[in-house]
Amino acid sequence: MSRYITEFLSLKCTPDILATVGHLGNKPEKEISEAWAIIRKLRKIVLRHPDKFQIVDLCSGNALVPVTAVHLLPIVKAYAIDKLPRDRNWHLARNFIYIKEDIYNIKTSLFNKPTILTAVHSCRNLAEQTIKIYNENDQIKHLILMPCCQGKLDNPILRFIKNEMNTDVAWALKLALQCGEGVRITKDKFVLSPKNYIISASKKVVEEPIETIEEPTFGVHKRIGESSGGVTL
Ligand SMILES: C[S@@+](CC[C@H](N)C(=O)[O-])C[C@H]1O[C@@H](n2cnc3c(N)ncnc32)[C@H](O)[C@@H]1O
Repeated sequence: MSRYITEFLSLKCTPDILATVGHLGNKPEKEISEAWAIIRKLRKIVLRHPDKFQIVDLCSGNALVPVTAVHLLPIVKAYAIDKLPRDRNWHLARNFIYIKEDIYNIKTSLFNKPTILTAVHSCRNLAEQTIKIYNENDQIKHLILMPCCQGKLDNPILRFIKNEMNTDVAWALKLALQCGEGVRITKDKFVLSPKNYIISASKKVVEEPIETIEEPTFGVHKRIGESSGGVTL
């Protein structure tokens, strides 16, 4: 079994998380591994600043990231934003709200507190819209984005990288270049999907970039080795 699945299933709160989200689609292990990769990055930030941040997860689907975050991490609140309505047991999670909304119409008043923006497998233009929201809202201090299908590679250098390496690297690079300073790309080999690049960005002054923070441990868990190196742009 993947170590991320083992770690997730060993949490005391796993039954509560699963009871809240209710349904994980036809590849639950893949979805758990993706969410867990994001949670590992989130905890690096929030354990250094308990009760400071809210999490806003865009294109949230089954909301596994924000629901896990409110159960596990010292955050003030978590929001799942998705254009589809989902009738689940959301009321079981404290400090969590599922909002049915198109991310192109998202209200900036949502970002009136220090925020960490997350998005897992938001495809094509949705990844670029996520970065636009990050760039346009000062209170969003960090971004953690795991992109999925590629959008336009409208630049010969990106097309060169696509041909020499692969599409996912070229797409991750295009996205990372939109994030300003303090951005890194990492690849998480424990994610059960080939779409396993993660773009982490932090706004200047506020914090150290996420990737330079030493990883803390979770109570009963052993220290979990970092998945791969990464590049800073
Ligand atoms: C590939 S799924 C990813 C779901 C989840 N983040 C995960 O990793 O399992 C993409 C999600 O984006 C949502 N979505 C697509 N377009 C959207 C939009 N314009 N605004 C908000 N959500 C959108 C879909 O409803 C779907 O739940």
